[in-house]
Parts: sequence; structure tokens; C-alpha cells
Amino acid sequence: MAPSILSADFAQLGAQIDLVRPETDWLHVDVMDGHFVPNLTIGPPVVASIRRHTDAYLDCHLMMTDPGDYLKAFADAGADSCSVHVEVGGTADLIAEMRSLGLHAGLAVNPETPIEACEPWLDRIDLLLVMSVHPGFGGQHFMEEAVPKVARAAAIAGRDHLALTIEVDGGIDTETVTGVAGAGATTFVAGSAIFGQADPLAAARAIRVAAERAVAA
Ligand code: DX5
Ligand code: ZN
Repeated sequence: MAPSILSADFAQLGAQIDLVRPETDWLHVDVMDGHFVPNLTIGPPVVASIRRHTDAYLDCHLMMTDPGDYLKAFADAGADSCSVHVEVGGTADLIAEMRSLGLHAGLAVNPETPIEACEPWLDRIDLLLVMSVHPGFGGQHFMEEAVPKVARAAAIAGRDHLALTIEVDGGIDTETVTGVAGAGATTFVAGSAIFGQADPLAAARAIRVAAERAVAA
């Protein structure tokens, strides 16, 4: 489970993180630049504050046109992984830069971008982040198109024995998680379905249980 703090109350961020920590494998941090996506969120100073507060794995999703300008700042702030979007190009250099900074290297793919755009890179990244909404905002509806993309990436990872984590981001809840978990995703980002609920910890646990059931089925 990767709770997305995008839907948390930023005025109480530390307490919100602590609330879901028992069900947090990764903490998903959505960075938006007001250019690649029409929204602004947070940057390296907030990541540094979170790093001082928790030992959770910090999974930074860079919805940025020029992520290369900021990778070092995120690494210095204590990010564990950064994911850059395949749509911004320069992928080979960005992967190399993430590696040289000691970051786990992620590649994110938008709903309208075919998974084939990521295939040349699957053997040199740690993390594939399949978007199941148009990036920019929490609380949108899950797009089923993500399911065959996950299945194809999982098939390639299996065929080529890749150590690839497949993460799905957007509109994930106890219902929508089943299809992508069954297709081979192993990490699930959820924002509104966790922090938008009366009991965020129980909500996160319910999504994990639904995913585990889908895998076992
Ligand atoms: C959307 C972000 C997501 C967002 C998901 O651009 O990348 O991580 O927080 O929010 P929900 O789970 O509400 O769709
Ligand atoms: Zn995200």
C-alpha cells in the first residue's frame, strides 16, 4: 500500500502520516509543477520535513516537465524513489541521473500513452508507475485501460525475469484494486479512498485485503 498524501490534511501532515503508518509500505508523494499538470503541490522542503518525521519509504511521483532539474534536491531531501514521466522524454539520462544519486528509478506513464513507450526501459528501472487517472488531481474515477497495461508489463517482467515493481496510481479503492492486482500490480497508490475516509487506517487495510484476495483468487 502506498497512501498518497495528496488527499491528507497538509496542516496536520505528520499526524496524518502516523495515522496510516501501520498500513504504509510506501508513502506516495505527488509533486506537481503547474506545467506538466495543471496543479501545484509540494517540493523538496516538504519531503525533507517528512523524512525527519518518518522512516517510511518515500515514493516521489514527479509530475514535472523538467524533473532532471530537481532530482538532486529530492535525493538530498531523503526521497527513496523518484518516478519521472515517460512523456517528458530524456528518459535514458533521467534514469542514469536517478541511479547516480542513489535513488530507486521509476518511470510513470499517463493513461493516453501506450505501454510500449515504456518497454525499452523496463530492464533498467525499479518501478513502473501506471496512471489510472489523468494526473493532476485526487479523487478521479479509475480508468480500466490501466488493467491491460499492467498485464503486459507484468508479462514482460515475468518473461525477462525483471526485478520490476508495478504500481498503479489513481482511483484505487477496494473495488478497482482487484483488476490491477489480478493483472500483476503489487503496489497500490490511494489518496481519497484512504484520507477521504472517516477511518483512514481501516480504509487502507481494506484495500490491502481486497488486493490480496484478488491475487489469491
Ligand atoms: C494524481 C496523483 C495520485 C493521486 C491519487 O495525479 O498522481 O497519486 O493522489 O488520488 P486518488 O487515490 O484520490 O485517485
Ligand atoms: Zn501519484
